[in-house]
Amino acid sequence: MDSRSHGWCSLPRPAIAAAVLLAVSLAATPAASHGGHDDTGLHSNYLIIVRKPYEYDTNVYKNVSSWHASLLTSVCDMAKETLEKDPSSMSRLIYSYRNVVNGFAARLTPEEVEEMSKKDWFVHAYPEKTYQLQTTHTPQLLGLMGSARRGGVWNTSNMGEGIIIGILDDGIYAGHPSFHGRDMKPPPAKWNGRCDFNETVCNNKLIGARSFFESAKWKWKGLRDPVLPINEGQHGTHTSSTAAGSFVAGANIFGNALGTAGGMAPRAHIAFYQVCYVEKGCDRDDILAAVDDALEDGVDILSLSLGDEQADDFSDDPVSLGGYTAAMHGVLVSAAGGNTGPGPSTVVNEAPWVLTVGAGTTDRRFVATVKLGDNVSLDGESLSEPKNFGDEMRPLVRDVGDGMCTSENVLRAMNVTGKIIICDAGGELSSAKAKMALRAGAAGMILVSPQVFGSVVVPRPHVLPTVQVPFATAQKIKAYIRTAQNSTANFIFKGTVFNTPKSPVVAPFSSRGPNRRSRGILKPDIIGPGVNILAGVPKIEDMEFGPDEEMPKFDIKSGTSMAAPHLSGIAALIKNAHPTWSPAAIKSALMTTADSTDNVRKPISDSDGSPATYFALGAGYVNARKAMDPGLVYNLTAADYVPFLCGLNYTDQRVNMIIHPSPPVECAKMPKLEQKDLNYPSITAILDQTPFSATIARSATNVGAAAHTVKTASGRAPAGTIEGELKWVSGKYVVRSPILVCPGTGRSAATPATERT
Ligand SMILES: *[C@@H]1O[C@H](CO)[C@@H](O)[C@H](O)[C@H]1NC(C)=O
Ligand SMILES: *[C@@H]1O[C@H](CO)[C@@H](O)[C@H](O)[C@H]1NC(C)=O
Ligand SMILES: *[C@@H]1O[C@H](CO)[C@@H](O)[C@H](O)[C@H]1NC(C)=O
Ligand SMILES: *[C@@H]1O[C@H](CO)[C@@H](O)[C@H](O)[C@H]1NC(C)=O
Ligand SMILES: *[C@@H]1O[C@H](CO)[C@@H](O)[C@H](O)[C@H]1NC(C)=O
Ligand SMILES: *[C@@H]1O[C@H](CO)[C@@H](O)[C@H](O)[C@H]1NC(C)=O
Ligand SMILES: *[C@@H]1O[C@H](CO)[C@@H](O)[C@H](O)[C@H]1NC(C)=O
Ligand SMILES: *[C@@H]1O[C@H](CO)[C@@H](O)[C@H](O)[C@H]1NC(C)=O
Repeated sequence: MDSRSHGWCSLPRPAIAAAVLLAVSLAATPAASHGGHDDTGLHSNYLIIVRKPYEYDTNVYKNVSSWHASLLTSVCDMAKETLEKDPSSMSRLIYSYRNVVNGFAARLTPEEVEEMSKKDWFVHAYPEKTYQLQTTHTPQLLGLMGSARRGGVWNTSNMGEGIIIGILDDGIYAGHPSFHGRDMKPPPAKWNGRCDFNETVCNNKLIGARSFFESAKWKWKGLRDPVLPINEGQHGTHTSSTAAGSFVAGANIFGNALGTAGGMAPRAHIAFYQVCYVEKGCDRDDILAAVDDALEDGVDILSLSLGDEQADDFSDDPVSLGGYTAAMHGVLVSAAGGNTGPGPSTVVNEAPWVLTVGAGTTDRRFVATVKLGDNVSLDGESLSEPKNFGDEMRPLVRDVGDGMCTSENVLRAMNVTGKIIICDAGGELSSAKAKMALRAGAAGMILVSPQVFGSVVVPRPHVLPTVQVPFATAQKIKAYIRTAQNSTANFIFKGTVFNTPKSPVVAPFSSRGPNRRSRGILKPDIIGPGVNILAGVPKIEDMEFGPDEEMPKFDIKSGTSMAAPHLSGIAALIKNAHPTWSPAAIKSALMTTADSTDNVRKPISDSDGSPATYFALGAGYVNARKAMDPGLVYNLTAADYVPFLCGLNYTDQRVNMIIHPSPPVECAKMPKLEQKDLNYPSITAILDQTPFSATIARSATNVGAAAHTVKTASGRAPAGTIEGELKWVSGKYVVRSPILVCPGTGRSAATPATERT
């Protein structure tokens, strides 16, 4: 076998080294670079899961990659003819995984996969798959600032010192002020990662930066190998600075949201892993490789603002596969829950060992008022505040085309010169509409938010004075236009306003439960700030700046992508305060202390104004201050998920795929656990058999200062989906778990009752 590893399918270099020594191997091995070497289209990328443990062959093969290469070679020999025609077979092995899965990624023909499936070591071949990517003010909001006496977490000298947050995203702008290394100590000795930026850019803040595109480059022909080792990603710069950006005084966007910017854990270290490419996405096998390496590099937290809606079960997605191995390593994975709400069953990254984060608003608005000719004033938001808009009333008109302002010719024909035009959502990017309106001569624009956004407005900077208004507000403006003889309007810009009542609300786009892959586990777990978040960017998108104008280095973005790094940063603070806590304990602390009420002490609303259900909220809105000292935690080890997986009736093969590198199990010989009995910080009971009652098991670990006197209150018998809560109350501690009681299949999911006990 050994000699055959240099046969038809021989590998000029081990796959791991290929990922690692990018520049060198590309220069030395042209066959490994993409672009024209695979014109036959015969090969595509597969993730191959194998059965045997590597130990099986350690006497012959020096390491996992040489062993994987030998497995590959045994099949390539069977496909000699194909190989002779295909020079790209020189670099068939893309990645050889050591931690997250028992297997490798390779370029193969369908015939070879067929051949492989006959081998005793073969388990499964997954065709290639693409995942998609999915703040100056938030520190005060979440209770991080302020005196230690008042619970300000940062003042207890905890800014995440010594904690390493690994971020998988589309790139990072290393020179951004948020990543300066002043005040930062060197990373802890366990740090074993690398910085592939040249020389000076990495520092004690940005301690690692690597790019994973060995799989992506085959899939996306023409994907340019990063010119720099890492691209200067918009998204990744934003998420990284949200999680752990250093303090930057005077951060703002066109004067709005002015303040000192800082991530949630301003003294934590950032290890960046580029796995996503703009307008392409994130390749599954590159994600797996990044997690594989990050765990060996020594990260404490992994922040993943990416996901896939089509994943079938926990064994076929890299976030849950990597997340399980991360849990074994004591690493918490904080992942975006998805942006495909508000429809039901849209949540992604829903494995119980992952923290699934939804998005809510903050209490900050960029208020701009539309004053109508009848003296009625209606509030919207704006990031396009002109220096001098003046106070004269201007003619106010509707787009007479499709209403969405998508035709410059229509706007010109309407003669919008000097007028304010109202434009509905849809058709074009709002930035494109703004440019057309400006060219057509409009003085200002009112942009209508989609109806589904409810009260939530997501303003963007635009080239002409623009106020973005909720759908309902726009209906009032249009009614006025219809009835007034000569409708007029003006804008009054009020700038950044805090303490907006009834905050937060759930973001309309935040994906919702129920959990498709495990209905008995409530997802999302928690929500965090994810609407209009100001954080670092390389530059403002969709805006042109004059040569003398300074390009703003902060921008506002919205998404569960923005919420997940908030939770990653807060998790770093908890980890710093409690170094021995397991990922499950940290997650429990975050969930059982989350807020279920808003800033006027009412249950948190959904964006349409109705009370948010647990399927939108999870345990609630993160409360960083309380999460530092939760009193009790619901703990779980990685091994505790095994009976849970067996209880889901997964085949042994799938269970073993997930729990690798734990030794393989046979479910028939294991206790099975019902979903409701997993020691999870939220509780879901599915009642599908009479009598409609359930006994739920939980055990809590006391991590607080004092012994507890326990009082419990629980949800009552079901009639449709019922929400309740379990509270352990003692002195200063309230440990709260949401309880969800769902009808079983066959009984329709009734409207959620607002029964809270
Ligand atoms: C694995 O072993 C092969 C051959 O024995 C060697 O060339 C390669 O460098 C090793 N790879 C790693 C990652 O250690
Ligand atoms: C720490 O507390 C003091 C008051 O005791 C306050 O002035 C200061 O802003 C706080 N610092 C932070 C970073 O919250
Ligand atoms: C780093 O790389 C960039 C882009 O390739 C190059 O312009 C710059 O000179 C390099 N800096 C150093 C210190 O090598
Ligand atoms: C609007 O208010 C102004 C000043 O208060 C007043 O002069 C004007 O008559 C009002 N217009 C209408 C239509 O009510
Ligand atoms: C458009 O309207 C403005 C202001 O009402 C007017 O001065 C201009 O002549 C009009 N242009 C055309 C082409 O009608
Ligand atoms: C509306 O505008 C037209 C033309 O600009 C003008 O003739 C008319 O008097 C105005 N009507 C009112 C009620 O202001
Ligand atoms: C949770 O379980 C892990 C693994 O058994 C253990 O190391 C940890 O101390 C436990 N408690 C907490 C609070 O993490
Ligand atoms: C697993 O199978 C058992 C026995 O067929 C069944 O009772 C149980 O409901 C199944 N569990 C799930 C989660 O489908």
